[in-house]
Amino acid sequence: MPEKPARAFVCGHPIAHSRSPKVHRHWLRRYGLTGSYDPIDVAPDGFADFLESLVRTGFVGGNVTIPHKEAAFRAVGRLDAAASAIGAVNTLWIEKGVLCGGNTDAEGFAANLDQRAPGWDARGGTALVLGAGGASRAVLHALKQRGFGDIRVANRTKERAAELAHAFGAGISAHSLADATRLAADTDVVVNTTSLGMRGGDADLPLDLDALPAHALVTDIVYVPLETPLLRAARRRGLVAVDGLGMLLHQAVPGFERWFGLRPEVDQELRLLIEADIRSAVG
Ligand code: ATR
Repeated sequence: MPEKPARAFVCGHPIAHSRSPKVHRHWLRRYGLTGSYDPIDVAPDGFADFLESLVRTGFVGGNVTIPHKEAAFRAVGRLDAAASAIGAVNTLWIEKGVLCGGNTDAEGFAANLDQRAPGWDARGGTALVLGAGGASRAVLHALKQRGFGDIRVANRTKERAAELAHAFGAGISAHSLADATRLAADTDVVVNTTSLGMRGGDADLPLDLDALPAHALVTDIVYVPLETPLLRAARRRGLVAVDGLGMLLHQAVPGFERWFGLRPEVDQELRLLIEADIRSAVG
């Protein structure tokens, strides 16, 4: 009997905004595979039942997005190392009837910089991470994995930064967002994980970029708009600036490989496709 086409999903609430179906369907088409990848809206009170039904319904796995990443972390039968460290699951698969959860955000973050700014981690030095939410946790995991020995987390609510510093251990310190400019002088890599600077002008910037050394890399995990005011200001200052779209694209790679059996490439064609989608949404 021929094998049934593999079926995968992305679940969230709401889900209509998700660009993941565009990414995975592009790869399915490009590699001539017969699988499917569909968005499923699952309200928080239905998430446990949804997970419970997965093994029966014949899905090979899927992605989990807002607001279910922490609930998925608590619910799966097995976690990969990244999900354990980050405390959230964004990728599900089934192994011998057991629902497994992983987190590919850290890998996606690092792979984006590997592609757009090769050698970005060569100094293994000092990083300044703005924000202390869920996205910040994935970034901290990636930076630790890549050997950054001095990671400063600066957050509006300093207590949240302190919680992360405590959870991630040695080499991570907690600061108030107001201290970001003072911390910038010896920073090699700046990562913005806050929604600050998605709109507006320089007045909204979380730090004064003039305080950074000339070799510093600035990256924003926000990708709507593609060029945030922070990235624009960094380029104006002559710094290397990398947008966050590649993180979205690269975090999708391990899931696709797991479900459909082929490691897909993040190439210019995919990037242009999703860029066009973002532009049409932003107007
Ligand atoms: P995510 O999971 O996307 O990281 P989150 O958990 O809501 O989202 O975290 C959002 C981050 O953006 C937090 O670091 C938040 O700071 P607080 O912990 O002080 O709330 C930060 N943030 C959001 N709006 C902000 C603003 N106007 N000024 C400064 N920081 C802001």
